[in-house]
Amino acid sequence: MTAATARKKIFVTRLLPPDVESRMAEHYDVVHNPSYTSLSDTDLASMATGFDYLLVSGSDQVSRRVFEALAGTLKVVLTLSVGFNHIDIEAAKAFGIPVLYTPGVLSDACADLALMLLLSAARRAHEADMVARSGNWPGFAPTQLMGIGLAGRRAGILGMGGIGQAVAHRLRAFGVAVHYHNRRRLPAEQELDATYHETAESLLAASDFFLICAPATTGLGGFLNRERIALLPKGAIVVNVGRGDLVSDDALIEALQSGHLFAAGLDVYPNEPHIDPRYYPLPNAILMPHIGSATTDARNAMGFLLLDGLATLEAGGKPENQLC
Ligand code: DGY
Repeated sequence: MTAATARKKIFVTRLLPPDVESRMAEHYDVVHNPSYTSLSDTDLASMATGFDYLLVSGSDQVSRRVFEALAGTLKVVLTLSVGFNHIDIEAAKAFGIPVLYTPGVLSDACADLALMLLLSAARRAHEADMVARSGNWPGFAPTQLMGIGLAGRRAGILGMGGIGQAVAHRLRAFGVAVHYHNRRRLPAEQELDATYHETAESLLAASDFFLICAPATTGLGGFLNRERIALLPKGAIVVNVGRGDLVSDDALIEALQSGHLFAAGLDVYPNEPHIDPRYYPLPNAILMPHIGSATTDARNAMGFLLLDGLATLEAGGKPENQLC
């Protein structure tokens, strides 16, 4: 085999769905991080030395140090995520390394999970499940485990990108009035009947249900703090399928304990995979281990979008999912 026809080498930090793995192996020499766990930038820099391509997940740290260490051999970074706060995009640009990501194809899966969290929080699914499994359920009781109905209430969506809009679509079917705040107001054909709020603070005050669908790259780190939680109506529900960094655990836990919030449904956390253990005993906290896009359809689509994008780059084109 000549140098021109040699297969490119790709370092992959996680085990991907079987169909994605097979297609990747047809085209590239694939080497995995043997532990399949998140990698620090130091480990990534040493393990991916000599590879043409690097395929990471949203929890691997692709800092400037990685670009510096791999400069000369690394040609493309691919991330199996729509979020890209784990990648130093300025460094990627400085080193001229294209970055591919997975927008769009996971919106439905993440929106499904947001609704699952909202419904579970509103109808106390975690508590109810514990009662049903306890062996001590006394039987139907008119006042047992009463929750909150969705119809006729207002939901505030922070971040009205693909996921936020898919959440809005589902909420309308439940009879919920949609309010939102976004960096830019949506055009009328996308906004539909949703009410736009110029400020996040005004949105909070109008949110019986507050759903965070914004990524961490919007400068909103620590956004949901004590002061902002206080703006939510008493008895509100918070759902976070965006990024953990947007929420102060101290403030949220305090509001769940005090009863200012009825419940919260969380899929993401500030310091993953470490979840603040003060959530564990709270019956009104529904906790998921970052599974927003964890459907076979979505994960396959994410993997194929990356591989299609890589093929386009190799053919000299510009893929639609190229970040920089
Ligand atoms: C994403 O796609 O950003 C998900 O949160 C997985 O990291």
